[in-house]
Amino acid sequence: MRILQINDLHVAKEGEDSYGVDVRGNFLNMVERLQPMNADLLVINGDLCYRDGEPEIYEWIKEKLATIQAPLAFTSGNHDDPELMAEVFELNGEFKEGELYYRRSVKGHTCLFLDTTHRKVSRQQLDWLEDELENASEKVFLFMHHPPVLAGVPYMDKNHALINRKEVQELIHAFEGEIYVFSGHYHVDKIIQKKNMTVFITPACFFQIDQHEENFKVDHYRIGFREIRWEDCALQSSVHYL
Ligand SMILES: [Fe+2]
Repeated sequence: MRILQINDLHVAKEGEDSYGVDVRGNFLNMVERLQPMNADLLVINGDLCYRDGEPEIYEWIKEKLATIQAPLAFTSGNHDDPELMAEVFELNGEFKEGELYYRRSVKGHTCLFLDTTHRKVSRQQLDWLEDELENASEKVFLFMHHPPVLAGVPYMDKNHALINRKEVQELIHAFEGEIYVFSGHYHVDKIIQKKNMTVFITPACFFQIDQHEENFKVDHYRIGFREIRWEDCALQSSVHYL
């Protein structure tokens, strides 16, 4: 099984300045890079929009993704509107009571997708996750825009961490198997291991944040994506920078 993940596209409105970064150009380069790669799934893991969810931005992204052969999955981040996403990307069965969360089986492997638009995992999603984990075995791939842990990135941990990460961790640790969590949001490349949970944070398609500074500071402007492989009963994962 091979899954590709991108996140934090932060596509701005036509003509809107976004830190002087050509976010639309970045996304087009990313699509061009991913297009020839065979994958069982491409996950767009949140923060598709620069500031707020906009129909025009989602439509533009959808149009550009049309050349990708792989099935697509989406999560909603803090700069998204899950209802608009469900509408534009035709995720009707996946949108429940105002949130975008769902399960997909990819080559027989369980993949779960959570909605952290409001910087937390809602009660209804926690209940759903608990049920899903009761029915799962061995291992689960969990995609959510916000990592459910602090990541040792002072600026992000202090100002933008998932609020109820402890609740999410409790559910994960109660699971008998391994849970591989794939996130973005932090604009860094990082892996955090805690008990049966391994959290992979993938760099943004925008700019990367300095992992060691207390205050906001851009580290660099190279954009990256993550490749996730499950082969021979082992997880392999790497970040590719463009
Ligand atoms: Fe974010």
